Amino acid sequence: MKGTVHKAIEKLVIQTFGAEKWQQCLVGAGFDEDHVFMMNDDVDEATTMKLVTQVIPSVCNITVQQTLDAFGQFWINDWASKMYAPYFEGCKSTKDLILKLDFIHKSLTENIPNARPPRLRYEWVDTNRLAVTYVSERGLIDLFISIAKGAGTYYKEELKITKKSDQVLEINFA
Ligand code: HEM
Repeated sequence: MKGTVHKAIEKLVIQTFGAEKWQQCLVGAGFDEDHVFMMNDDVDEATTMKLVTQVIPSVCNITVQQTLDAFGQFWINDWASKMYAPYFEGCKSTKDLILKLDFIHKSLTENIPNARPPRLRYEWVDTNRLAVTYVSERGLIDLFISIAKGAGTYYKEELKITKKSDQVLEINFA
């Protein structure tokens, strides 16, 4: 998984729980305590998963769901909207951002070897209800939902998100 994701995790944990807890997380995930992630790093997938699903919840005393939700909020509101601001231009709502997401992920990672961003298929169920099929060998639909909630916060919108299966979710934008 790309370094930018880990850089955001690093900032989030330090900001919320402090530098000492982050050092414990690094050591728990197999890094030196003074390791610093770089945006263009290519981090081993198993390490990313261990960090998010085991080490951070245990060191910071939060659940995996709380970890994903905190990341989803941080990723959109404190990270992507600043680091990747051009992608937000022209997106006036969560709907706009979600519909642009497949393009964003593809174009952002096309020149990065080993990047395998999720691919999305969209289908309108009715005027305000979008079915999103999430295709990724990583199986992180719960993370997808947490990031979508972060986007809802960014656009100050009440979204209703329903997980239909491990590949399909429905977002009600009404
Ligand atoms: C401008 C906004 C965004 C940027 C710049 C961005 C960028 C990225 C990048 C660089 C990765 C790592 C890809 C890799 O290492 O192969 C990633 C992964 C991911 N992104 Fe985004 N993203 C954005 C918004 C979103 C939103 C709004 C969602 C969900 C609603 C989302 C869902 C995910 C998920 C679930 C992954 C994990 C990888 C996987 O499932 O295979 N992203 N994103």
